[in-house]
Amino acid sequence: MIQIGIRLDEEIGRIHPHIYGHFVEHLGGVVYDGIWVGEDSDIPNIKGFRQELVEKLKEIQPAVIRWPGGCFAETYDWRDGIGPREQRPVTVNWWYMNDGKIESNQVGSHEFVEFCRLVSAEPYFAVNATTTTVLEARNWIEYCNMEQGMTTLALKREKNGSPEPFNVKYWGLGNENWGGGGCMTPEDYCHIYRKYAIISKSVGPELQFIACGPYEGIPEWTEKFWAKYKEMYTVGRIAPMYGYSLHYYVTNTGAMGSELEYTGPQWYEMMRVGLDIEPFLQSQYAMLQAALPAHPVGLVVDEWGVWHQLYGKHPQPGKYLYEQAGTMREAVLAALTLNIFNRHCDKVVMANVAQLVNCIHSLFLAKGSACVATTSYYVFDMYKVHQNAASLQTEVEGKHITYTIEGESYEIPAISCSASVKDDVLAVTLANLSVEDDQDVLIHLYAGQYTGTGTMHVLSSPSPKDGNSFEEPYKVTPVEQAIAPAGSELTVTVPKASVVLLKLNCYSHKPV
Ligand code: AHR
Repeated sequence: MIQIGIRLDEEIGRIHPHIYGHFVEHLGGVVYDGIWVGEDSDIPNIKGFRQELVEKLKEIQPAVIRWPGGCFAETYDWRDGIGPREQRPVTVNWWYMNDGKIESNQVGSHEFVEFCRLVSAEPYFAVNATTTTVLEARNWIEYCNMEQGMTTLALKREKNGSPEPFNVKYWGLGNENWGGGGCMTPEDYCHIYRKYAIISKSVGPELQFIACGPYEGIPEWTEKFWAKYKEMYTVGRIAPMYGYSLHYYVTNTGAMGSELEYTGPQWYEMMRVGLDIEPFLQSQYAMLQAALPAHPVGLVVDEWGVWHQLYGKHPQPGKYLYEQAGTMREAVLAALTLNIFNRHCDKVVMANVAQLVNCIHSLFLAKGSACVATTSYYVFDMYKVHQNAASLQTEVEGKHITYTIEGESYEIPAISCSASVKDDVLAVTLANLSVEDDQDVLIHLYAGQYTGTGTMHVLSSPSPKDGNSFEEPYKVTPVEQAIAPAGSELTVTVPKASVVLLKLNCYSHKPV
């Protein structure tokens, strides 16, 4: 039996709602055919946005949405996306080299902010820090945020239909600048960041900037970036920074099978690589602390998810770049990742799963008027209870899984867990990483107890290869079960390859 201890008197910190963030890039079928169908479409829409997706997305409380890229951002000219839609230029999209598709610019700043308002999310814009100028970046911020009537750019925004400022607070200054974003060295990029941040800040003290950090393959980027950044301490003004971005993809180039077909060891291999985000976060944060002991900035994991780079081909083969279907495997991976973010909420201030629809680790698949919520969507739905709650210390003891792949043996834990408390609701989320065995879990509560009723929500399916599709859109959805908790112990069975939420409604602290 696996034992989990939850300490109700040991809070790690508040779980920032932005950890439950999303990512919308002008890539494949994410924007066009994904969120946007156009106002004249036969597909039910609200101001051009796919109505079913808007309604379902709002349900899961999408706290923040990053846009317009990704790599796309580094060739984006924000002026192409404003003004009458029929007059907007048609341009070559960053992804043209991969799919030959062009950019119609029908979705620009006004439309994206409208989308965020429809789903009650905060916008997070990614600035082009590679192929435009600092002044143009600053002008974009001015266009978005300056009070009505105050400047010529604010008047232009009003003329384009939005007298009220957009109030975009979060701005990423660059994207993957070690790669598609200009192939820069950390020192080169640091210089760029400092310029963009100090100049852009002049538009508003409320602005929050996010710097480009590494992906897991180049952790040393961070040391070099911060060594350069710290030079400012002696030679000039300190460029402001809210967060430091990391990208972490569970990249499948074959060892994990394909998106729909995989063996047991291939399942475990995906879990193992997913779990490795934890030491990556810890080591990156340690570097930030070493660089800025007095006030380390937060981590912003603004791209994460499973990416079947060679084998993602469903459900509409060849239609959209990086489109892939999901099964219970992606759901369990999403759950273990969110558990890690919850447990490190003292370090992670934002995270954005890549990407929202028809691309990589999607929450939706859309085709014509059909819009399917994937298994990962339901994980976000179950986990929304953690938003703004106090994350609690958890200790998991017990079973591990060993497996062998490509001649190497590995061990991973059988259960992933996180817990939080808010308004007398204790939420415990569990992911069973075993594709073979159900797990009996005994939960001990310390420094508190629960009384009265609680519920258990289980996302599972007879086959771990099950997922939702256009043919069977509701094949895998969470099922609610009653439990009868009392006192300070509870035993639950977590089915193999499943995600479970325990919501213990009546919670009372014992005097400690
Ligand atoms: O999410 C797809 C791409 O992956 C993004 O554009 C880029 O930032 C990353 O390499």
